[in-house]
Amino acid sequence: MKVRFLAADSMGTRSMCTLIEAGDARIIIDPGAALGPRRYGLKPHQLEYERLSEHKELIESEAAEADLIIITHYHYDHFPRPGEEVGWLMGKRILLKDPVNHINFSQRWRAKIFLEELKKIDAKVEIADSREIKIGRCRVAFSKPVQHGNDSRLGFVLETLISSGGEKVVHSSDVEGFVGEVQIKFVLEHEPDMLICDGPMTYMLGSRFTEIELERSINNLLEIIKRGFLHELVIDHHLMRDLEWKSRIRGLLDAAESRGIHVTNAARYTGLPEDLLEARRRELYEKFRNPGTKS
Ligand SMILES: [Fe+2]
Ligand SMILES: [Fe+2]
Repeated sequence: MKVRFLAADSMGTRSMCTLIEAGDARIIIDPGAALGPRRYGLKPHQLEYERLSEHKELIESEAAEADLIIITHYHYDHFPRPGEEVGWLMGKRILLKDPVNHINFSQRWRAKIFLEELKKIDAKVEIADSREIKIGRCRVAFSKPVQHGNDSRLGFVLETLISSGGEKVVHSSDVEGFVGEVQIKFVLEHEPDMLICDGPMTYMLGSRFTEIELERSINNLLEIIKRGFLHELVIDHHLMRDLEWKSRIRGLLDAAESRGIHVTNAARYTGLPEDLLEARRRELYEKFRNPGTKS
């Protein structure tokens, strides 16, 4: 199987967009990217907008060749927002999070609008929750809805397993570093070789994310590592909004290394330099004059 990241926080936009080429299938998980609206009291820098355009262009061009598009939940860093051009999804097979059940109010509303747009372009839409399908010899399985990170008010997400040629990859979507034990069940059940995981939300430490939740995230990831099935852990998204991310999960990195598990982020896995634009937003404003602001 070949895994490529089309957009991710470590590459400069909020996203976990993953392209998996698995034997007979070309699958894109979460074809969206967005920018953090406010960071350090600052709006996104021009450089972030430019990166966002690049990522969206790449997602759209890769989607043209995809056999299957997966949408794990309805946050705009994971699927197109209203008003965005969606013609690139025309006629596509799309497996998505149940838009009516196990969903919060705002995501239900966003899903409804998106589904109306998909109808206009003849997309082949199916509910994915707890399902399993085959594309040739490639198996795609979905978890039951699990809580979005540490906050039940943010709704639910789906975790995805792609299995082909004896290899297994799990994409865990927005679990914020597996804050809850329920969120790791799908991973323990399927024992993937590679786990693509949303790391703990440490940039909100002390406000929307507590020290106890960070400890729980690390313990849950350690539990996964200890089982011995994992070879590659790609940790990204919420964790990459923190410039100190390595020191926050030092114990986990050491434990993984001692077991020969390669830990990296999406940028480095893809062969790109780590570029945490949102976390560096203050520095961007200091270094590069933003054409959109007075200086
Ligand atoms: Fe989310
Ligand atoms: Fe997200």
